[in-house]
Amino acid sequence: MKPSTISELLSQEITLHEVEVKGWVRTFRANRFIALNDGSSLQNIQCVVDFENTDEQTLKRITTGAAVHIKGELTESQGKGQSVEIQVKSIVILGDSDPETYPIQPKKHSFEFLREQAHLRTRTNTFSAVMRLRSALSFAIHQYFNTNGFHYVHTPIITGSDAEGAGEMFRVTNLDAKQPPLNEQGEVDFSKDFFGRETNLTVSGQLEAETYAMSLGKVYTFGPTFRAENSNTSRHLSEFWMIEPEVAFMDLAGNMDLAEDFMKSVINYILQNNAADLEFLDQRLQDEDKKKPQAERNEMTLLEKLRFVVDNNFKRVSYTEAIDILRNSKPNKKKKFNYLIEEWGADLQSEHERFLVEKHFKCPVILFDYPANIKAFYMRLNEDGKTVRAMDILFPGIGEIVGGAQREERLEVLKQKMAVLDIDEKELWWYLDLRKYGTAVHSGFGLGFERLVMFATGMTNIRDVIPFPRTPQNAEF
Ligand code: 4AD
Ligand code: MG
Repeated sequence: MKPSTISELLSQEITLHEVEVKGWVRTFRANRFIALNDGSSLQNIQCVVDFENTDEQTLKRITTGAAVHIKGELTESQGKGQSVEIQVKSIVILGDSDPETYPIQPKKHSFEFLREQAHLRTRTNTFSAVMRLRSALSFAIHQYFNTNGFHYVHTPIITGSDAEGAGEMFRVTNLDAKQPPLNEQGEVDFSKDFFGRETNLTVSGQLEAETYAMSLGKVYTFGPTFRAENSNTSRHLSEFWMIEPEVAFMDLAGNMDLAEDFMKSVINYILQNNAADLEFLDQRLQDEDKKKPQAERNEMTLLEKLRFVVDNNFKRVSYTEAIDILRNSKPNKKKKFNYLIEEWGADLQSEHERFLVEKHFKCPVILFDYPANIKAFYMRLNEDGKTVRAMDILFPGIGEIVGGAQREERLEVLKQKMAVLDIDEKELWWYLDLRKYGTAVHSGFGLGFERLVMFATGMTNIRDVIPFPRTPQNAEF
């Protein structure tokens, strides 16, 4: 007989047959009832031990955290809380646990504590639900692009270019840190480095994805990206995953349509396919909410929020309109913002983004046509000469979740922009080639995967939606 997963067993109608399962003991009570979980779903299966016919030594070894192999009969449950249970006929302890030191006790642990136990935290309901949803979203993303004619491109992790021009990169080198080779000016001579040049971990796969869009038409990358920005916030990671579609012959309006349809589709996927995990997280948040004062409670439950996004249009607002709204807003007039909005051209901080989404529009917002000088070099300059065809999507509780743009396809305009920003044409000769040979309007965007997982699960710290978070001063595991 092949062992079944608990999820398979619980979806079966037929009882009264021999079954076999392997999993980890969540609890063992009254020397009789094991709550067994194997990660296949949120649900445990109750295994009833015949303690009179089980030796004392084995009974003692059935402890929280132990791995066990159980054979028995699936029967209708006598007790409350489950429809079926296993009457255990044989139990083998595969791996003992130590109930004294096992960190995941059957009680509530704080997320801070569990972050320090990231190798074991997926043995809790909350983290197993979050990580199953992460996996489901990842599948939904590939499925969306696959069914819409996109090709998946693996863009490089090690690159020589800084796509975002923010200079927040991790260097990749095998030079001797103590005694690097120096050039005549006394600077580190990277021509002696492994790749014969300075290289870094990528901050974005966009520039390489553009080259594929300009031949395969519709492409996307989905991979890890790295940023050495020293921001210790609940929404920043040093290593995060990004989804970046890039489409030839598509303008900014098409880019917004694509992003909105895509976001709705992947959220709808989990609503259809991951109801049990979502309902558990929804309930968890409602319980948390009950402990808060009325004013701080969420206006919508998690499931309501997800359905709201799927069922409503995202509000499209130009940067200029947004600045007018912010300038005249209460928190601006009463000097409640940390950064007051005084004039056109100001960069928006997350407090402003969240005001627009959560207080003013109360729905996801797509902001577009930003001032050129607060955005990256590759964005298409508008006819006004001062704004670019950028778009950011802002989500409630998250702020910026997507950043994208129509790309500058005109060689001369792009070269001028690079000159102003001191970006070496020689470094990006291949990027400029796209504008020399068959250039065309094209657009794309980047979705921060962890920010999507935060939104979908209601988790409020980005460290809790990636298995092993990397943040400043922290790369444990
Ligand atoms: O807005 P960003 O910097 O855009 C780009 O990198 C473009 N090259 C994307 C493109 O057009 N192909 O980053 C895109 C998204 C952000 O909106 C945010 O969701 C996420 O990536 N992001 C981060 N997520 C976690 N930690 C960080 N440090 C992040 N920085 C950006
Ligand atoms: Mg951005």
